[in-house]
Amino acid sequence: MTKPILQVSGLTMDFGGIRALNHLDLNVHSGEIVALIGPNGAGKTTFFNCVTGIYYPTEGDVLLNNPKGGKTISLKGLKPNKVTEKGLARTFQNIRLFSKMTVLENVMIGRHCRTHAFVIGAIFRPPKVRREEQEIMNISYSLLEKTGLAQYANELAQNLPYGAQRRLEIARALATEPILLLLDEPAAGMNPQETMELVDLIKEISNDGQAILLIEHDMKLVMTLSHKIYVMDYGKKIAEGDPAEIRSNPDVIKAYLGEGADA
Ligand SMILES: Nc1ncnc2c1ncn2[C@@H]1O[C@H](COP(=O)(O)OP(=O)(O)O)[C@@H](O)[C@H]1O
Ligand SMILES: [Mg+2]
Repeated sequence: MTKPILQVSGLTMDFGGIRALNHLDLNVHSGEIVALIGPNGAGKTTFFNCVTGIYYPTEGDVLLNNPKGGKTISLKGLKPNKVTEKGLARTFQNIRLFSKMTVLENVMIGRHCRTHAFVIGAIFRPPKVRREEQEIMNISYSLLEKTGLAQYANELAQNLPYGAQRRLEIARALATEPILLLLDEPAAGMNPQETMELVDLIKEISNDGQAILLIEHDMKLVMTLSHKIYVMDYGKKIAEGDPAEIRSNPDVIKAYLGEGADA
């Protein structure tokens, strides 16, 4: 097998006396959809925060291999914007958008890390900058089309229906052209119709070759989409495998699926 694009080893995070992550190993390979599941408080968001530079892990390492080649790099200790630049983009459990900016501008901001001379509203704009801006706008608009948001391009982000705001976060993350896309509970708070549309969107993104790591509570979504599932409880990995293996794993059933999940 080829090298994983994301290779996390021994990741540990202590908050005072609480060990939120306990020597976690996790790999994501090119083209895969990998899910990270577990009860509330298991440490899933902490994992994302350690991988994306929000927290500096107590122990362990986070390595990134660009599938297009180049050296393996460690993301440990990099600031979140640098991590994005290196190729990890994420969405948040609680939506974080620029609510007073338009939908299109929100995606254009995401593109910022891939360009050199882009400043929104700059007064002096030489032709090269104007060309770059036009290109950013085109790419951003095509991402709105992909995520079903083109009709809202000039609306303020805050005026979007909930499900559309969640899709906009995904569009903004995609604008950074990530090697790996991380989604923290993308279906949270969605109604069944919105969840179905989200499943279709994630499938479509994946079919484009995008590797995805997702945290999600909706078991139907997880089982439908994932190539591989990691299960956490109390900061530790308790199981890994494909959906069929996870479904029939007794530890998982005990820790998680037994608690009323419909899988
Ligand atoms: N910044 C923090 N300071 C202290 N404790 C934290 C912090 N972030 C998370 N925790 C604790 O770490 C544990 C895991 O939390 P979290 O990663 O949010 O779980 P999950 O996303 O799986 O629901 C919880 O006990 C939580 O209270
Ligand atoms: Mg969480």
